[in-house]
Amino acid sequence: MSNAGIFVVVEGIDGAGTTTQIERYAAYLRERGRKVHVTREPSTGPIGTFVRDLLTSRRQLPSGPAFDLMALLFAADRLDHVRGEIEPALREGAVVLSDRYDLSSLAYQSVASDLSLPAHEIVGWIRTLNRFARRPDVTVVVDVAPETASKRRRHRGAPEDLYEVDALQNRLAKAYAHAEALVPGDRILHVHGDGDIETVASLLREALAPFIERSPNHAR
Ligand code: TYD
Repeated sequence: MSNAGIFVVVEGIDGAGTTTQIERYAAYLRERGRKVHVTREPSTGPIGTFVRDLLTSRRQLPSGPAFDLMALLFAADRLDHVRGEIEPALREGAVVLSDRYDLSSLAYQSVASDLSLPAHEIVGWIRTLNRFARRPDVTVVVDVAPETASKRRRHRGAPEDLYEVDALQNRLAKAYAHAEALVPGDRILHVHGDGDIETVASLLREALAPFIERSPNHAR
C-alpha cells in the first residue's frame, strides 16, 4: 500500500521509558515541521479500552486473563487500531509513533503463556493472529536492565498492571534483546535505555535519523 508517512514502533519492557521517549521525539519532529501522530497499544478505541481495564483489574474475565485470550484481544484491538487510526494518519503523511505493537504480543503473551507448550508454537500462533497487521517501517527496542525498569516503575508509584511482575519482566528483557527472532524480516533498531532521559532521547534520534530523513515530507 502506498503512503506518504512512516510507521515507527517503539517497544520495551514496562519502565523502559517508551512513553517519555515518544513524547520527546514527537516534539523534536514537530519543531522541525513534521506532521506527527502519537498513538499506543492497547489503543484508545473500544477494544483497547476493554483490554486496559483487564490489565488494571478494573474488569475481569470469568476464566481469567489467560495468554491466549489476551493475545486474541490484543490482535483484534491492533487491526481496529491500524485500520481506523494508523493507516489514515499515514495517508495524511504523518510520522506515526506507536507506543507498542505486535512485538509486545509476541514478547508478553509468549512469556506469560503456559510453559508446557513449546515457545516456537506459541510465537507462531501469535504471528498468525497478527498476519494482517501491516508491518512497521521500523521498530525501536529500548533495552533496559530489568532492575532499572523495576526502580522506575516503583518510582512512578502507579498501581501495577497484570504483567508488571519482576520475574516476568526479567524474561521479557531477554525476549526483547532478541526481538529480531520474534519478527523476522522486520527492521529492528536497539537503543540502550539505561541512561537519563536526554541521553536516551539523543540515542533514539540518532538511530531513527536515517529513516526519518529519507522519508517523504522531510522538512528541508
Ligand atoms: P503500557 O504500554 O506500559 O501502558 P501504561 O503506561 O498505561 O502502563 O501497558 C500496556 C501493557 O500491556 C504492558 O504491560 C504491555 C502489555 N501488552 C501486551 O501484553 N501485549 C500487547 O500486545 C500489548 C500491545 C501490550
